[in-house]
Amino acid sequence: MKKWNVASIRAAKGHVKLGCCTAYDACFARLADEAGVPMILVGDSMGNNVLGFETTLPVRMEQTLSATAAVARGAKDALVVADLPFGSYQCGEDAAMANAVECLKAGADAVKLEGASERVCAFIRRLTEAGIPVLAHVGMMPQSVNAYGGWKKQGKTREEADRVLADAKAVEAAGAFAVTLECIPSDLAAEITAALSIVTVGIGAGPVCDAQWLVMHDLLGLNERVPPFVKKYADLASAVRGAFAAYVQEVAGGAFPSK
Ligand code: KIV
Repeated sequence: MKKWNVASIRAAKGHVKLGCCTAYDACFARLADEAGVPMILVGDSMGNNVLGFETTLPVRMEQTLSATAAVARGAKDALVVADLPFGSYQCGEDAAMANAVECLKAGADAVKLEGASERVCAFIRRLTEAGIPVLAHVGMMPQSVNAYGGWKKQGKTREEADRVLADAKAVEAAGAFAVTLECIPSDLAAEITAALSIVTVGIGAGPVCDAQWLVMHDLLGLNERVPPFVKKYADLASAVRGAFAAYVQEVAGGAFPSK
C-alpha cells in the first residue's frame, strides 16, 4: 500500500469514502494502519480515552507530541494528523506556529485545530503557507465545552446551520485540506459536503460526509458507554477484562507459569 498524503486524501472525495479513526500509541496505530485505515488522528480525545480526564481541555502539548511520535512510529501508510491541544494555538500565533512545527518534527503529516474565527483562519493560512497541512474542525468543538455549557449538538436551527456552513467555507478558503464536522444534523453535513471541494470528515454527522472519524476506544468497544451515533466493531472491554481475570486466577491457582 502506498503512503496516504493530503493529495490522495483530497482525491478520494466523490470516489471512495474513508473510514478513519484516532489512535494514541504505536501498537494500535500499527494495527489500524495494517488494516488499511487511511488517516489516523492523534486526537486530544486522548484526554478522555487514555489519560482519564472528563474533557479534552487538560491535554498538554508534550503529551500530544509524545503520542504523535508513537503513532508515527506505528503507522506506515496512514496519514498521521496531530490534534493541537487546547491552549497550544490560542496564546499567540508565534507560539502556535512553533507548536505546529513540533508536531511535524514528531512525525505528524498534518495538524488539526478547532474553530473558524478570523484569528483561527489567519493561522490556518499561515500554517498552509509554511507547508503544514491543516485539517479544520467546525460544528461541535470539544475545546469549547465550557463556552457551550456542556456537549451540545450544533446547527439545529437554520441560523446555527448557516453559521456552521459559513465556518466550513471559511476554513476551506483559508487553505484547510479537510474539515471535521462534529455532531451536526445529517442534512447540514450533506449540504456542507456538497458545498465544499475539500474533504469533510464527519463524527456524529450522518452518512453523507466524504470520510468518517471514530474514536478508537469507541469503535473497538474498549469504552462501554459510547455516544449514540457510534458503532462498536468489537467488544474488547469484555475480552481484555476476561484475559486479565484468567491470568490473575491462573497465577493464584498455580496453573501459570509452567515449570
Ligand atoms: O480528538 C478527537 O478525537 C477528535 C475527533 C472528535 C475528531 O477531535
